Amino acid sequence: MSFTADTLLLFGATGDLAKRMLLPSLCALDADKLLPETLRIVGTARSPMSDAEYRNFARAALEKYLPAERRGGMADFLNRLHYQPNDVTHPEGFAKLAEQVGDSRHRLAIFLSTAPSLFEVTIEGLERAGLGGEGVRIGLEKPLGLDLASSREINDAVAKCFPETRIFRIDHYLGKETVQNLLALRFANVFFEPLWNATHIGHVQITVAETVGLEDRAEFYDHTGALRDMLQNHILQLLSLVAMEPPASYDPTAVRDEKVKVLRALRPVRDGESVTGQYRGGAIGGAIVPGYDDELKRDSGTETFVALKAHIDNWRWQGVPFYLRTGKRMHERVTEIVVQFRNVPHSIFGNARMKPNRLVIGIQPEENITLSLMAKVPGLDRDGIALRPVPLDIAMPDAFTGAHRRIAYERLLLDLIEGDQTLFVRRDEVEAQWAWIDGIRAQWKSEALEPKPYASGSWGPSAAIALAERDGVSWHE
Ligand code: BG6
Repeated sequence: MSFTADTLLLFGATGDLAKRMLLPSLCALDADKLLPETLRIVGTARSPMSDAEYRNFARAALEKYLPAERRGGMADFLNRLHYQPNDVTHPEGFAKLAEQVGDSRHRLAIFLSTAPSLFEVTIEGLERAGLGGEGVRIGLEKPLGLDLASSREINDAVAKCFPETRIFRIDHYLGKETVQNLLALRFANVFFEPLWNATHIGHVQITVAETVGLEDRAEFYDHTGALRDMLQNHILQLLSLVAMEPPASYDPTAVRDEKVKVLRALRPVRDGESVTGQYRGGAIGGAIVPGYDDELKRDSGTETFVALKAHIDNWRWQGVPFYLRTGKRMHERVTEIVVQFRNVPHSIFGNARMKPNRLVIGIQPEENITLSLMAKVPGLDRDGIALRPVPLDIAMPDAFTGAHRRIAYERLLLDLIEGDQTLFVRRDEVEAQWAWIDGIRAQWKSEALEPKPYASGSWGPSAAIALAERDGVSWHE
């Protein structure tokens, strides 16, 4: 059923995500007049608070996390906010929530930003209180499980009340403008697609490097690790967008059908195709930072870095390795995709040094697209033509001056309110992701793979460099 929600019911309304991302995104949308005029936002969490107290809480979060120039009309935004305390483990509390929601139970968007262990009781409570009917859709924040089995349990619990067409699983990378731009780049330009295959592409690299460490999530992170925190979701979503076949249209079914085919075609990772690491002390941007064990205050075998060589077993990608890596406390914060083309089949330029073309898609912090092209070095060529790669560089902010740089959640929350599932992850995608990740973890176990130490501020353990260099490939840095 297509509808725009009258009420957004936010579980986990006092949590970190609400403070840093959800409230700022909603306020920024409101400032741009993009929220439905009558939308009410009802926050709920365990802490007892009145509407007025929640509005104060929200104001403090907005002042901290939303730049002043995007806070226009904050007072009006705060007036949309209401709060209803509720402990989801006590079923009787849901009746009060239902009262707050009132008639908008027929046009309601719910967002669960709580621990997934609470999803099942929350959904039972919602259903009993009459908040699970046809006019209700539900957004789920990650992590959706720790492996395939636990992810299925969560999905089954949600499916008891909500059909797939009303479930919106968040991967916030899909809300990033530059990630969506991947589809435009591939499918709104004629010249990439004919070359986008194993005949012309030698390999692909996807890097998601962060400079932050554990932040305030030591326990969560130590149970999760880089593979499950970043690779299972964000990197595999990027990979599926890079590798998918052209969908027939930009619609939720067509796009997700193509992504899931890629995820299902991932070949199990073999011995020697992955490297894990854990950061030690070091320096980032001139500041000294402690090692993982020191931050955690105990020894741990959890990986904070992972590099993998992945393969997609289908016609288009046969023989094209995808090198994937992510890590905390790395040299710099950068998310980018590198598409390395093959050499020209024959050089007419004698001994001139040829370099294959390379497309670098910068996702963050810089949003740019650089294509390296071979060009003739100016001169009279008495010793033969000399060639050199030159960049064809597009900085997206320059190409679109005046456009806001939006928070990824702005897009996703608006799509949840309006009911567009294209940028949300379907159950079969999440499960294909987990199936592949479980295989990697099983293989690590059988190999007794231990994370290798790396200095904070570096690009990860040297074994990760060797993983690519064995194939004659260097990571793009
Ligand atoms: C989250 C991870 O999903 O993504 C965090 O749990 C990580 O560990 C974050 O820091 C990175 O997101 P972004 O948008 O800053 O790249």
